[in-house]
Amino acid sequence: MRRVIMQISDIHLGPYFNHERGELIIREAQEIQPDLLVIAGDLVMRADFQAQWIMARDYIEQLPQPRLIVMGNHDVPQYNQIARYLWPTARYRKYISPILNPVWSCEDTVVVGMNTARSFTIQGGKLSLEQIAWMEQTLKSYPEQVCKVVVMHHHVLAPPGDRAKKAIVNADLAIAAMDRAGAELVLCGHIHTSFTGNTLEASADLKSGTIIAQSGTATSTRGRRWMRGKNAFNIIEIEEQVIRISQRMYLDEVRRFVPVSEHVFPRRSAGAYYLPRQERVLETSKEIPPVRLEDTALTGS
Ligand SMILES: [Fe+2]
Ligand SMILES: [Fe+2]
Repeated sequence: MRRVIMQISDIHLGPYFNHERGELIIREAQEIQPDLLVIAGDLVMRADFQAQWIMARDYIEQLPQPRLIVMGNHDVPQYNQIARYLWPTARYRKYISPILNPVWSCEDTVVVGMNTARSFTIQGGKLSLEQIAWMEQTLKSYPEQVCKVVVMHHHVLAPPGDRAKKAIVNADLAIAAMDRAGAELVLCGHIHTSFTGNTLEASADLKSGTIIAQSGTATSTRGRRWMRGKNAFNIIEIEEQVIRISQRMYLDEVRRFVPVSEHVFPRRSAGAYYLPRQERVLETSKEIPPVRLEDTALTGS
């Protein structure tokens, strides 16, 4: 068994969208042909402007299917207070998808998208108690050996070095619910920095924890902190015994996205946590197309 998820986020169509990176992302996605393409929110820069939604819709249509998309805080209108509080999701539902908490599944993997974007806050996010209960129930309705993945724009745990960046409201409850439901992986965006970690760092009471894969901005010029000016996305490979997270970062030297780190985690649902190390299958995957430096049509000029 092998599933490939391509995780991008914070594409921010609008004034800070880098068109060259945008084209490269499309090419990468078409080359990799993931089983699922995840867009973890912030599709536009300012949700008040219809033109940005049209650009976002047209851009996303060029990315391969199937796609699972969730809203980000930038996808809620900011200037128009009436739209902000009365119809915060209207443009998203019109141009992107009517489903705010989408689910994708196949025989061995389920991915549950959660909308954390809210009107009352400019930056932060929230999961309601109802959403958390629904997430837990949905994940638990799949057999134990199915790999359970959650997607949300905002983070449940800020990366080390950036702990001031507040996690979602009810993050502790969401982390506990994911743990009880056997969620192996949570994919987030929002802070425009890449990070790989585990919710085990948030609480001593968790059974196995949930792996965190945070993606930097794929196409915006507004990378943050140690990823200022940088763009990145993640490739997630889910196999029988391991989950592998590869961070692909755009490097100016080669003018394309290249793998800069790879994290390998044992699958908890496969019982791989408990296998002696020598019995785990950890060989590197060979099916993802390798980077070919000569194949850089966009490196000219
Ligand atoms: Fe963003
Ligand atoms: Fe955001």
